[in-house]
Amino acid sequence: MKILVTGGCGFIGSALVRQLVLHEGHQVVNVDALTYAANPQALEGAAESEAYVFEQANICDLGVLKEIFARHRPDAVAHLAAESHVDRSIDAPAAFIQTNLVGTYNVLEVTRDWQANGAPADFRLLHMSTDEVFGSLGREGRFDEHSRYDPSSAYSATKAGGDHLVTAWRRTFGVPSIIVNMCNAFGPWQFPEKLIPLMIMNAIDGKELPIYGSGRNVREWIYVEDTARALAAVLASGTVGDSYMIGTGVERDNVETVRAICAVLDRLLPDTPHQPHDGLIRFVDDRPGHDGRYAVDHGKIERELKWSPVETAATAMEKTVQWYLDHQPWWRAVKTERYDGRRLGMTEGPPQ
Ligand code: TYD
Repeated sequence: MKILVTGGCGFIGSALVRQLVLHEGHQVVNVDALTYAANPQALEGAAESEAYVFEQANICDLGVLKEIFARHRPDAVAHLAAESHVDRSIDAPAAFIQTNLVGTYNVLEVTRDWQANGAPADFRLLHMSTDEVFGSLGREGRFDEHSRYDPSSAYSATKAGGDHLVTAWRRTFGVPSIIVNMCNAFGPWQFPEKLIPLMIMNAIDGKELPIYGSGRNVREWIYVEDTARALAAVLASGTVGDSYMIGTGVERDNVETVRAICAVLDRLLPDTPHQPHDGLIRFVDDRPGHDGRYAVDHGKIERELKWSPVETAATAMEKTVQWYLDHQPWWRAVKTERYDGRRLGMTEGPPQ
């Protein structure tokens, strides 16, 4: 199959491209704008394959997107291109409106056009989304495919809007789509603005580990390669018109997550002066609109598509910490050139 992936140089997108090209024998057309969070290096192995083509383009550019579809004639689309960091959506929501809403609208319009003019009968569009569109849970319960949309941030509101556009284009124009709502991913090549890579990098350097608020906010965590396998399974055999929750059942509050990182580093770096690493933890001002708990019921994808996570919480964390230890030149360059690790999401400046 020839699959057009948007955002294939992103953290989850690159894992999906590797999965499709290296493990499943598909052709991939990667459409990526190469914004600050993109990492073409993450495609090593897949990028050299004859089954891989790169198109540098922004999904906000409708004309270019049309031309790329006409040239490559995809059998399926996996739409992952997005602005994804909640703290940045507090500082500068405009980019989220553009990419997550206008960009998704463009992908839908081009897909609609392609569907009416030559797409194969089993063509499908997968829209990658998040459990954050459902807002915050209390102590009990989990999100499932019937949960009510109730987003809290500009990030999750624009992802929710994207989901609604995808559903509207299916109902109104017959664009055959599937939505995936997934819990928090982590693993190799994650841009170090997110909790887990930021904490690993800071701990290695003996810097403070800033935990927002009480640190009792709960997230459900999935290893990025398990994510890629799940997305490939949905692309291959998901039911058009359905949505699928992707999760693992691994729920941790942020203090537990950071302590788990510290415990692995204490073991892997016995001679560092920064032992014990959890002595670096600092509680800092909370994130505005900080959701208390996300958790998902992934029973449907397990039952219907026979997908379940391969990694455990422990193996995934071990692999991730080891990977950041082994790839210091990469993240040190990111810190120098793209993001120095400073606190985001607290600005009170004028709208941009
Ligand atoms: P993040 O990785 O930004 O993902 P999301 O907000 O999409 O869940 O944050 C995960 C959790 O970690 C969230 O509860 C906010 C918290 N957090 C901190 O406590 N400190 C930090 O420096 C960061 C980046 C996040």
